[in-house]
Amino acid sequence: MRAVVFERFGEPAEVREVPDPRPAEHGVVVRVEATGLCRSDWHGWQGHDADITLPHVPGHELAGVVEEVGARVTGARPGDRVTVPFVCACGTCPSCAAGDRQVCERQTQPGFTHWGSFAQYVALDHADVNLVAVPDGLSSATAASLGCRFATAYRAVVRQGRVAAGEWVAVHGCGGVGLSAVMIAAAAGARVVAVDVSSRALELARRFGAVECLDASRTGDTAAAVRDLTGGGAHLSLDALGSPATCAASVSGLRRRGRHVQVGLLPSPSGTTPVPMARVIALELELLGSHGMAAHAYPPLLDLVRSGVLRPELLVTSTIGLDAVPSALADMGTAPGAGVTVIDPWT
Ligand SMILES: NC(=O)c1ccc[n+]([C@@H]2O[C@H](COP(=O)([O-])OP(=O)(O)OC[C@H]3O[C@@H](n4cnc5c(N)ncnc54)[C@H](O)[C@@H]3O)[C@@H](O)[C@H]2O)c1
Ligand SMILES: [Zn+2]
Ligand SMILES: [Zn+2]
Repeated sequence: MRAVVFERFGEPAEVREVPDPRPAEHGVVVRVEATGLCRSDWHGWQGHDADITLPHVPGHELAGVVEEVGARVTGARPGDRVTVPFVCACGTCPSCAAGDRQVCERQTQPGFTHWGSFAQYVALDHADVNLVAVPDGLSSATAASLGCRFATAYRAVVRQGRVAAGEWVAVHGCGGVGLSAVMIAAAAGARVVAVDVSSRALELARRFGAVECLDASRTGDTAAAVRDLTGGGAHLSLDALGSPATCAASVSGLRRRGRHVQVGLLPSPSGTTPVPMARVIALELELLGSHGMAAHAYPPLLDLVRSGVLRPELLVTSTIGLDAVPSALADMGTAPGAGVTVIDPWT
């Protein structure tokens, strides 16, 4: 099959023929019909993920058709249209048993712990625990986002963030995760303040329901600006980029007893990120993390997509082939585009 491969972190990836994957006993091989370019793929390529061994095929946000099924799989058949949470849970560890499969202790992740979906086929583990059927009428390009960013944003806003109608929600970074969060929070009846440095990203955020937009490249103190716009601070705020600046701005833009949800990854040489903890204490803020979303938690999200309340298809702004992936990956470090780029590995 054809796949995007890199031999060294941060050096140009290339497209080449590699052996087709085989399913594990508990796994499947999926023919990839669409796979999104997520900033986590860029982090992986930069060497920020300790799970990656070289050479490597990135890609984790996918939808496709089951091609081959392992001997012990009972719930999947060739021909099934599926997506999969990028955190593939084992289904049996203590965290899985407690219902927290998104933080499984023996999780595997395509594109991180093994070769991923920037390829024509991908192997997925523990299929009976992780595969999610794609609703009829939903294109693969749209369904791919349910594998990572749209589902991640749903859990971050609805479950971890406990959004409520009428609340102010700030979203720092309006790319794939952030725009999804804007749409989900607005649909829940929240008043959303979108923050980004790109005017195109902010235009999309407004289209998806943000009532206020802040250009962080022109606003000196975005936290103060959020507090001004929201009459004292957001009830809920997300760092949907992942940087020391957006993390601190998100926490500092909260009102008393507000909730911060960290979604953006924060790689740093020391492994730590400074957080304004004095404010966390004095205002009794909550700091929460959010990590993907387990397959069993998808039904309410799929209902909202089916009924048209949530429209992830609007996030897709470009579709590219495998040959364009190496440069698109590199561009994420310098000139990120607005909205979601989806890869069709067969063009
Ligand atoms: N926790 C999880 O489970 C999870 C899942 C998916 C992605 N992620 C992470 O979430 C983050 C976002 O991923 P994505 O694919 O949506 O990224 P993206 O590149 O699509 O979007 C990032 C956005 O941030 C904006 N931005 C840049 N500098 C900014 C600043 N100073 N202030 C405000 N906005 C700024 C960019 O213009 C862009 O619109 C990444 O760190 C990714 O690795 C985490
Ligand atoms: Zn992702
Ligand atoms: Zn587990």
